[in-house]
Amino acid sequence: MKKDKILVIGACGQIGVELTLALRKMYGDSNVIASDLREEHELLRGTGPYVSLDVMNKEMLHVLIIRHNITQVYLLAAILSATGEKNPLLAWNINMASLLNVLDIAKEEGLDKIYWPSSIAVFGPNSPGRKRRSTLLSSPQPFMEFPSSPASAGANITTTVTASTCAACATRA
Ligand SMILES: NC(=O)c1ccc[n+]([C@@H]2O[C@H](COP(=O)([O-])OP(=O)(O)OC[C@H]3O[C@@H](n4cnc5c(N)ncnc54)[C@H](O)[C@@H]3O)[C@@H](O)[C@H]2O)c1
Repeated sequence: MKKDKILVIGACGQIGVELTLALRKMYGDSNVIASDLREEHELLRGTGPYVSLDVMNKEMLHVLIIRHNITQVYLLAAILSATGEKNPLLAWNINMASLLNVLDIAKEEGLDKIYWPSSIAVFGPNSPGRKRRSTLLSSPQPFMEFPSSPASAGANITTTVTASTCAACATRA
């Protein structure tokens, strides 16, 4: 049977650190490769393999996936919130191109699973007010480039929301 080998991209972020540690408990430390543009997060140090990776470097990403026999990718690399609002084009490029890079390689290498979280936020003229704690937006109408990127891609992709993502959403709602 093929062994699950997992690559977490954006592993040093808010979701990535906790998710990487949780995945290492489930799949074994050496089977979960953490990667990020940043230096390794102190909570990850000594808990398993870490690779410095810019997800925009498709060639390096491809080599990494082949070299480590990766079967699943969790894509968490993103530009969010204030940084994205200051530089929407950068956010659009990174948030969308990273997904396309991963999907292209997944198709070529026949990866088993790709996880890509839902948007941290989608706002628009039809969004409910702040008092609602949680709402399912059946047809979100983003008015900015930044929040619209996950919504755009999400139209064609089944996204998976982790428990920690949901918890984080609930506290922000
Ligand atoms: N945090 C939340 O409450 C929440 C809620 C819902 C959805 N999400 C989604 O989860 C994902 C991760 O969110 P987060 O809060 O952990 O974000 P974060 O900003 O804390 O982490 C993102 C990570 O991506 C890395 N990164 C950025 N550009 C990169 C690149 N080019 N190559 C490699 N790594 C790069 C950053 O260094 C950072 O460590 C996002 O897609 C976000 O929309 C988050």
